[in-house]
Amino acid sequence: MTLKNLWKLNKALIIVNTLSLSDSPSDIVQAAKLLKNSEIVAFPTETVYGLGACIFDETAVRKIFAAKGRPSDNPLIAHICKPEQASELALNIPKEYWILSEIFFPGPLTIVLQRHENVSKIVSAGLSTIAIRMPDHLVALALIEQTGQPLVAPSANLSGRPSPTNASHVIEDLDGKIAAIIDGGSCSIGIESTVLLIDESRKRTMILRPGSISKEEISDTLQCDVEYADKSDAAASPGMRYRHYAPKAKITLINSLENYDAKEERVILLASSEPEELPNNFEYRRLNSMQLYAELRRADYESAAEIAILLTPDILAQEGLTNRIKKAAGIY
Ligand code: TXA
Ligand code: MG
Repeated sequence: MTLKNLWKLNKALIIVNTLSLSDSPSDIVQAAKLLKNSEIVAFPTETVYGLGACIFDETAVRKIFAAKGRPSDNPLIAHICKPEQASELALNIPKEYWILSEIFFPGPLTIVLQRHENVSKIVSAGLSTIAIRMPDHLVALALIEQTGQPLVAPSANLSGRPSPTNASHVIEDLDGKIAAIIDGGSCSIGIESTVLLIDESRKRTMILRPGSISKEEISDTLQCDVEYADKSDAAASPGMRYRHYAPKAKITLINSLENYDAKEERVILLASSEPEELPNNFEYRRLNSMQLYAELRRADYESAAEIAILLTPDILAQEGLTNRIKKAAGIY
């Protein structure tokens, strides 16, 4: 490994810089070696950075829960590098999985299936299901391939913090707690995958977490009704039980700037485009799914007291982004 690719941070954290995969295949080999040695390694995906461990290595899986401070009843997603790998992890795979995987894999869709007994209960937090996704990122796919088994990977943040969309966010939260980070630059999507439950016994197809693949796209592909999970489905969807990230600033969701009564002297305005007229005490920042989490982290570093988020129709049309904005604002 060349020096440019290897930095040691506070506590022997190694950063493997793989901005271009073809330039540095040895970085992937190095990271895979760490994983096979029961270490945990953060890597980029198209949605957010994941914190990976070999799925069949219980010691490593436990390290993930410890490093993130994640409650043990919140299950992990298995990341695969080819759709057929699901057969090692799930039983009675329904035809819907194969239809969806052909259209959306690799991509930001996670499909919840019946768990194979090969997969430890710790991964699934005791549930009889397993969530599976094939990320659309060359580094992630190469790492899974090189490791030779699926990787479990929650978002690489401390529990309760916004998901990381670049390597510096991972360092902020996890330096000293993990073996390595593969730096692949900023994530192209920026919010986590759509999580879909296919419940054959109850003939239901349900979105447990909205993302950039929409309900309509799934319903058109499967030619069936797709529902959103609500609070009564929390048993199938442990992620719904947890408080989501809320920044220190007060967030107000607005439909227009007219009549907005700012409480603080300085207001950060997140909007999809810059309004023509902006009061002097407003500071505009661009809002899209790629930027949302980075802007929330930035508002915290700056100790901002007030954030206004403009919910224009183009933002509301993105169900995953709108969901994360509402959660950050404390609306569930
Ligand atoms: O885009 C993503 O999905 C990212 C990247 C790294 O792949 N991963 C991610 O993982 O967001 P995490 O652990 O932060 O969120 C996983 C979500 C949680 O809400 C969890 O409860 C849900 O998926 N989940 C995982 N396994 C499940 C299962 N068997 N049944 C229901 N929900 C499950
Ligand atoms: Mg997460």
